[in-house]
Amino acid sequence: MEPKSSEPYHQQVDDETIVLDNNELENLLSSLPKERSIITPYKYQYQGFWYSVPLLLGVITCQKHFQPRENDIFIVTAPKSGTTWMKAILYALINREAHPPKTPHHPLLNNAPRDLVPFLEFLSPSEYDSVCNSPDKSMRIFATHIPVSNFPESITSSLSNCRVVYMCRDIKDNFVSLFHFANKANLRPSPISLEDAFNSYCKGVSAVGPVWDQILGYWKESQEKPHKVLFMKYEEMKNEPKSQMRRLANFLGVPFSVEEENSGMVDQIISLCSFESMTKVDVNKMGNFVDGFTNSSFFRKGVVGDWRNCLTPDMASRLDEITEEKFRGSGLSL
Ligand code: A3P
Repeated sequence: MEPKSSEPYHQQVDDETIVLDNNELENLLSSLPKERSIITPYKYQYQGFWYSVPLLLGVITCQKHFQPRENDIFIVTAPKSGTTWMKAILYALINREAHPPKTPHHPLLNNAPRDLVPFLEFLSPSEYDSVCNSPDKSMRIFATHIPVSNFPESITSSLSNCRVVYMCRDIKDNFVSLFHFANKANLRPSPISLEDAFNSYCKGVSAVGPVWDQILGYWKESQEKPHKVLFMKYEEMKNEPKSQMRRLANFLGVPFSVEEENSGMVDQIISLCSFESMTKVDVNKMGNFVDGFTNSSFFRKGVVGDWRNCLTPDMASRLDEITEEKFRGSGLSL
């Protein structure tokens, strides 16, 4: 999808807060490195990371207009690391008093997780403040893929009390999930081959890539500011959901009470948000997300280790090598 001057790339921004008109956008794009990529045919490198045009505009809009509130919560991921799952989990966790997870009319049984926890980059400034997904009127939950270095400074500043839950995923599974998603989403003129997708990913030219740099940024932040950034792994959430749920609840300042523990609240949230439960919900089987993305494209297999069914041994070794090299000395291993 090559940008044309007539295309309204600022479409997600309302009239009063248009971040760039078409001329400014064209000037910006022509000044940025551009490469072929995976989900959309091209990406542009902005402040060290690769973005599609709509995401780039979303980032610039946030940087210019987003004002965090004291207890905002941000779920941050690299695309295809379990964002949708974390949206469901955080929504169910934070709202468990107003919406007990066992209630037959729970909002997650009638709404896609993205309707309850929106992407920061896809909101217009006028929508930032209308988002309220907790009965506590001042608590908002957003999801985002923005790397920490590109985040509006007001959020990462040590003065703010916002909290970030970062979820990462095994790199090989992340790539395989991204590859399948690219060919399911309707944003390319033709499907991308595994080899082309792999080469782009290894070069770092994937959505908000290099994925390693995005992960490392939040890993370091979680080490320096553990009260502000919680670093989680998809595999740990899968393998030990109960202890991870407790860790998450403690971090967010909403620990499970003894009564809740005894009544099975932890298991109920895990069950409500499980892949099996979420994929039975009608809106997750049908509705549309944004142009080109159906809600169902955010649910595929939801397992650990599916890379074995897709990657050659050479591809797997190459990704392992890059991961080891990038994370060396950081204390992080995936
Ligand atoms: P797979 O393609 O490996 O199946 P994102 O939400 O960041 O786009 O990530 C999508 C990935 O998370 C997909 O992985 C999807 O199947 C998986 N996923 C979605 N909902 C899930 C859930 N409730 N539990 C576990 N995995 C889930």
